[in-house]
Amino acid sequence: MCGISGVVQLTGEVGPTLYDSLKRLEYRGYDSVGEASISDGKILVKKQAGKIDEVESELRISQLQGQVGIGHTRWATHGAPSQENAHPHTDCNGSVAVVHNGIIENFMELKQELEAGGHRFKSRTDTEIVAHLVEENLKHGTGFVEAVRQAAKRLSGAYALALICLAEPDKIVCVRKESPLVIGAGSNANYLASDIPAFLPRTKNAILLEDDEMAVLTHDRVRLLNVATGEEVSRNPVTVDWNVETATKGGYPHFMLKEIYEQPFTVRSALRTHPMYLELMASAISRAKRIFLLACGTSYHACLAATYAFANLAKVEVTPVVASEFIDGYAALIDNDTVILTVSQSGETADTLTAVRGAKDRGATILGVTNVMGSTLTRLADVYIGQNSGPEMGVAATKTFTAQYSVLLKIAIALAKKRETLSHMELEKLESALDGMSEWISSTLATQEESVRRITERNSDRFSLCFLGRGISVATALEGRLKLLELSYLPAIAYPAGESKHGFISVVEDGYPVIFVAPHDECYSRIIGNVMEMKARHAHIISLVEEDDTQVAGLSDETILMPKGIPSSLTPIVYILPLQLFAYYMSVTRGYNPDFPRNLAKSVTVH
Ligand code: AGP
Repeated sequence: MCGISGVVQLTGEVGPTLYDSLKRLEYRGYDSVGEASISDGKILVKKQAGKIDEVESELRISQLQGQVGIGHTRWATHGAPSQENAHPHTDCNGSVAVVHNGIIENFMELKQELEAGGHRFKSRTDTEIVAHLVEENLKHGTGFVEAVRQAAKRLSGAYALALICLAEPDKIVCVRKESPLVIGAGSNANYLASDIPAFLPRTKNAILLEDDEMAVLTHDRVRLLNVATGEEVSRNPVTVDWNVETATKGGYPHFMLKEIYEQPFTVRSALRTHPMYLELMASAISRAKRIFLLACGTSYHACLAATYAFANLAKVEVTPVVASEFIDGYAALIDNDTVILTVSQSGETADTLTAVRGAKDRGATILGVTNVMGSTLTRLADVYIGQNSGPEMGVAATKTFTAQYSVLLKIAIALAKKRETLSHMELEKLESALDGMSEWISSTLATQEESVRRITERNSDRFSLCFLGRGISVATALEGRLKLLELSYLPAIAYPAGESKHGFISVVEDGYPVIFVAPHDECYSRIIGNVMEMKARHAHIISLVEEDDTQVAGLSDETILMPKGIPSSLTPIVYILPLQLFAYYMSVTRGYNPDFPRNLAKSVTVH
């Protein structure tokens, strides 16, 4: 998730406008920044790795000349943060420049074709191929707008693109497919951006681009076209009555709620991890004698859930370990045949990095899943995958949990394919379920948020709660508990449901709230017994059950209804959503700020 912006203005230099718009998009990505404009018959490019203010003090991007310009603030997905990989990217002759937000899935194939045609590439990004594709089309005599349209038709994946071209220096052409892109209609100037805050101080007239649409901006006109047909599209601007702070939160009261609602997109982009990286991970794991999944906090819960997926899908035994305990507990077992699959949103958690260094020193192979390209973990890992969730502003991890687990699930499936542990039918069923994941997430949020809010209100005066689950839902229950604990400061408990009768049950008294995570999976018949044990002690039962559930629902005081037929290895991604909302509303109802809970940091860089 990056931020792109652009402006075509009649008078004045674009530098200050672009710089200001990128500052307002910094929450979308901040590992490198760049701008390009057309001035004196040349395309000027200023770009560097680093935060906006660092790059400004070095390159003075706010002083870029020209009346037509595009800008980018990056959250790396392909290619670590560096000057070469920073956007904008240009073609062979510097006559076309492009900025991009999203992932171009077929960039490898297109790059090989273009290199065979003599194009020379300067970066390791997927984005640069677009500049060369447009250059190729221009060579065949098409105009700039048509050259971009033809190029866009060859791309697959998610993208918001903005391009400038020396041959037609008075305009910007931009294209949208899945990644957000809005146009700001001004007077004597027109703007584009990944999000409204970028141009809100200059105009409140926004034109929302739909998927597979493109726009041509000049200083006095905005034209919309359909990418497939090239036909004109007419759409009136809408007036945005948000202030900038609200706009940065996308109209949500807190970043956490905004990030919870980003999950249909962030899970989809995590599931789009390039097969090449999954294959590298699966090969390393299949060669290993011992495999550990290593992480802290929420990332550890993603590892715990993945343990069930590796066992049940790929028939591979992996050991999930809390990073701060790893070296003390397992040092003697680590050698050259050991693989460490490490998960860290920030890539900077000290406990995780220390464990990784200790394992590396003992000859282990390090695999990493992280949200921050260029982080220390990416430098320590032999192979790493960027989960591409974009910056997470809320201290409590939400979208990064579901994205992490989605990547781990894809690795387990790649391993199952390699080891042929799933039939063709089973694989097909799993793949189609994954394709439907974003819809399950959207429908659960849309249909259950209000009932979760009401359940939270009814239980906001509780002094403690317990979360129970079986099988893979133990990980979901533990993650639900962590969210509530860190945001509402309630001393919540979580247990494997079967284990609850070996101790916890002594805590249960009249009305004590117990939350059951009870999908209709292979554990369902056994969790009914656990619900009855709690019921017998007059606990207040709140259950997450399938929409047409009768047995557990019949025993429960309150229910949260979940979509039917989610394969058990996918349930953590959907069943965590109401628990994220529960923690969010408990924090708000108790008067706390869910974005910045006390005593916690987004990245724990101390031991
Ligand atoms: C989760 O909401 C917390 N912010 C915390 O437990 C976090 O998951 C843990 O510190 C690990 O962080 P990492 O994924 O950046 O390594």
